[in-house]
Formats: sequence, C-alpha cells, structure tokens
Amino acid sequence: MNGEKKLLQVDRVTVSFHVGGFIAGGRLLAVNNVSFSLDAERPEIFAVAGESGSGKTTLARVLLHDLEPTQGRVVFEGRDLSTIKRRRDAMEFMRKVQPVFQNPFETFSPLRRVEDYLFETAIQFGRAKNRRAAAPIVDEALHQVGLSLEEVRQRYPHELSGGQIQRVSVARALIPQPHLILADEPVSMVDASLRMSIVNLFKKLRDEQKVSVVYITHDLATAYYISDRIAIMLRGVVVESGPVEKVLGNPLHPYTKLLQESVPKPVVTEREQWARPINLGAMEVKEYGRVGCKFAGRCPHVMEICKHAEPPTLEVEGRAVKCYLYGEDAAQSNPSSRSSGNLSSGNLSSGKL
Ligand SMILES: Nc1ncnc2c1ncn2[C@@H]1O[C@H](COP(=O)(O)OP(=O)(O)O)[C@@H](O)[C@H]1O
Ligand SMILES: [Mg+2]
Repeated sequence: MNGEKKLLQVDRVTVSFHVGGFIAGGRLLAVNNVSFSLDAERPEIFAVAGESGSGKTTLARVLLHDLEPTQGRVVFEGRDLSTIKRRRDAMEFMRKVQPVFQNPFETFSPLRRVEDYLFETAIQFGRAKNRRAAAPIVDEALHQVGLSLEEVRQRYPHELSGGQIQRVSVARALIPQPHLILADEPVSMVDASLRMSIVNLFKKLRDEQKVSVVYITHDLATAYYISDRIAIMLRGVVVESGPVEKVLGNPLHPYTKLLQESVPKPVVTEREQWARPINLGAMEVKEYGRVGCKFAGRCPHVMEICKHAEPPTLEVEGRAVKCYLYGEDAAQSNPSSRSSGNLSSGNLSSGKL
C-alpha cells in the first residue's frame, strides 16, 4: 500500500448509527472497519456485494463525502476527505468522483427534460460556458453510452425506457470527466434483460476512458461478469475480498458460498431475487448486534468461538477471508470443523486489499 500511487484509500472506515435499544449500546456499526484501496495507475472495477442491509449504501455515502466516518479515513488522490471544507475543494472532489444511483427517477425529475440535467452538469463543472458550447460535450457523453443528443432531445424521463434513462445517468456522470464512478445498485431497477448492456458500459469506461468504478450491488452475476476485485459485505463487515475469479470462482467464506448458491437463475426476471428469502428486520438487527462472526447464526460450519469472538482476517488462496475455518488455532481446537472438506489454514493478513 505504501509507495504506490493510490486513487482511493479506504482505511479502517467505521460508521456507527444510533438506533435505540435493540442492540447493545444502542449503536449499529453499519460499516465496520472496512479497508481497501484502488490503484491510480491501473483503472479497475471494484465490486462491493452483499444483501440489502449490509452497509453498502452507507459505505457509498462515505466515499462520496456525504457522510463522515465515525472512525477511519478515506483518502482520494492523496487528499483526506475530512480536510475538504471549502466549496471550491468540494466541487473539485465532486467533479472527480461521480455517482450513479439505483433509481434514475430520483436523479431526474419527471417535470424536467433530461437534457437540461446534462447541460447543467456540463456548465456546473466548468466544461462549457453555455448550452450552445455544452451541446457537443453532452452529445459525446451520450454517444459513449450508445445514445445521442438527438435521441433524448425534448424528452422527459418517463418518455425513455428504464434502460435508456439509466444510460443517461451514466452519461451525466461522465460529463465532468471523473476519475472514479461510484455506482450504487445501478441496475437493480433495470429489467434483467438489459442489465448486462448497462454494466458493460462500466467495462468500456474502464478500458477506454481509464475510469475506475466502485460497483455496489446485490447481484453477484453482474459483479462476476464485470469486476476485477470484489469485497463481500455482511452487516457492515467485509467477510471475503480479493480477485473476483477467486472469491466468486471458488468462495471460501460460508457466507460467500451461500450468496453464490442463491444467484438467481436467468429465467427469473424480477428484481431483488435473493434479498427476498432472507427475513430482514429482526434478523438484521440480531446480526448487527452479534459480537462474534455476523454469520454465526446462519453458518452451516459454525463453531463455539464464532459466537463469541470476531474472526481474524486471513490470507488464504489469494484472497482475504474473515473466518475461523481457515485459522490454524481454531481448526486445531475444533478438529471436527475440518471434516467438511477443502479447508486450508491461512496467515494473518492486515485485512487490506
Ligand atoms: N441514517 C441512518 N440511521 C440509522 N441507521 C441507518 C442509517 N442509514 C442506514 N442505517 C442502517 O444501516 C444498515 C445498513 O444500511 P445500508 O447502508 O442502507 O445497507 P445496504 O445499502 O447494504 O442495503 C441498515 O441496518 C440500515 O437500517
Ligand atoms: Mg443500498
């Protein structure tokens, strides 16, 4: 981590919310000691995946400088976000880190033409002085997502399809020429048949525009397809992270395995498939409140220690995994846990990627 130039450093970020009396202390760690970094020289797509209620959006808000972490820090291009106070600096940060949100109809008011947002973005971030000068810039951004100014001219959001409007969201994010795009569930409201065409845009941006992308999703299928590295989040905690072909190709953490097995089949087209069978609410509160592994209550391999002490993050087979199954000590103290097969012991890692 030292020495190399970093685009983004997320350093032991924790966000604590007050939630009343359900959890000991009335605090919920929506993001719990999360660390990762993105290289400045090598653009990549970094996925953050997990069920709903895992802290993904809270993490996104911290990365967008919309929320101060309770602990830890975020450094973007060498600058600690907590030092950004002046409006000019905030604008410069916003220019470089652009969001794409889940619901395009929240980004675009139904009462305004979509082109107005695009022109405004170009003018606001200093790429053009007026609409006339902005037109070629807007048209170019739309071309990058397979549309044109001609096609969206005079249109209101509801006159575009879900796939088209989300493409326009991506085009809007491109206008300021960002270095990082932070996309929070950008395709969960898009028809399954169109999802690939949207996520493929991120691949294209990485390869052609050298833009890095933090892709937040509960959809492992698209994450597997487009991302280079992935972090699996459960109740605020990163339980497994590393190159996507390792983490999803051969998951080690029991939670990653569960998620992978519940990837919806292509025939099922409705959204939010695998968020459904899990009974959020009561379970969410309980899992956030656990002192040991957050997955202990659902894990088929659970051991006594998992219920009482937070597992260490271990380096195993080319990824980081936060699970006692892979630790020497735990495995020795509970030999029966090794009977379940392909477990190997790992070395303590810093938990960073
Ligand atoms: N402002 C807030 N105040 C209190 N709790 C919050 C707040 N924002 C989110 N949470 C809680 O934090 C947890 C993680 O939420 P969120 O980050 O939205 O997860 P995800 O995006 O993975 O669905 C949830 O239990 C949610 O209820
Ligand atoms: Mg969310």
